[in-house]
Amino acid sequence: MSIIRWLEFPKLDDSRGCLVALEGNKTVPFDIKRVYYIFKTQEKVSRGFHAHKDLTQIAVCISGKCRMILDDGKSREDVWLDNPNKGLLIESMVWREIHDFSIDCILLVLASEHYNETDYIRDYSKFLEYM
Ligand code: TYD
Repeated sequence: MSIIRWLEFPKLDDSRGCLVALEGNKTVPFDIKRVYYIFKTQEKVSRGFHAHKDLTQIAVCISGKCRMILDDGKSREDVWLDNPNKGLLIESMVWREIHDFSIDCILLVLASEHYNETDYIRDYSKFLEYM
């Protein structure tokens, strides 16, 4: 089974443009406790390189594009995020790396828990051991 799971959010288009609403426990399958966004990522910079022990996240690229690698310890897949009404579901114990940010990329992330540094696994070999 693929690690890549997309959520498609309803896009409200009208003559003025587009609007997407994200609602916890509705279009988003958890209670949203935290929202953060990554932007102005410099050229040739990659981010992520960690997994979480107990955290579900949804990444939505609301401007520009970036490439996400997800790895569950058995297989590794990569996808482009470039659609403001598609969210990539990232479950616990999935290693993620984000590469090839366009300069206009704004990556919005919805998280099921508050920020907690002790939930991070930042070493790939420890991630494999933990699995
Ligand atoms: P980090 O998770 O290392 O970023 P990335 O994995 O995208 O490369 O976070 C960078 C810094 O921001 C780090 O010092 C932790 C801090 N941070 C918070 O304070 N709150 C948050 O919600 C997040 C995601 C990070």
